[in-house]
Amino acid sequence: MSLNVLDRPFAKHILTQLRSVDTDQVNFRKNMVRLGRILGYEIADSLGSVEVEVQTPLARTKGTVIDSLDRVVIVNVLRAATPLVEGLLKAFPSARQGVVVAKRIERSGSAPPAEMDVEIHYSRIPSIRAEDIVIVADPMLATASTVLKVIGLVEKQGTPKALYVVCVIASKYGIERLVTSKKNIRVFAVQVDPVLDERGYIVPGLGDAGDRAFG
Ligand code: URA
Repeated sequence: MSLNVLDRPFAKHILTQLRSVDTDQVNFRKNMVRLGRILGYEIADSLGSVEVEVQTPLARTKGTVIDSLDRVVIVNVLRAATPLVEGLLKAFPSARQGVVVAKRIERSGSAPPAEMDVEIHYSRIPSIRAEDIVIVADPMLATASTVLKVIGLVEKQGTPKALYVVCVIASKYGIERLVTSKKNIRVFAVQVDPVLDERGYIVPGLGDAGDRAFG
């Protein structure tokens, strides 16, 4: 597993708006879309490019092409990932899309949960081909239980060339769990937060991303 934490003051600025308890639903959603777009561009930069020749109206010159842009499949983990996916689609307008309706079952204990029960209510993911780039979008990587379950569903559809997990905030524990899973995943996050509380929420985090985006 590799971890890429964005080192961009602009992304951190938007994250700060998302974290603030004073940010209302509309601005929360708008800022999630903006981060999706930035994360999408970062992923696009990591896909590898080739030099090509291009003819302008005036001359021939060198250009750059990212071949895999047409091979992207985005998996939207409903409902919280919807605004993030809207932003990712600005970077990958021709992406094929899958959806997974996942619900984590929250229980209050006295210690942070090692994993969460996750109910999958619906899953529809396109067939994955060997040249595909799959991006699983889930804004909050807390215990990683949801993402691991979704990755299992992706794997049933085929083995992609690369598998990305894109989130806004990852917990340190969630990252450790993905490392332990030994899966070949590239994680892109805006921030890693240190703590999980006893309900499985990331602290300081930003609260419940789905509730805040959907009111
Ligand atoms: N899901 C959220 O929306 N927030 C968290 O902190 C953890 C999971």
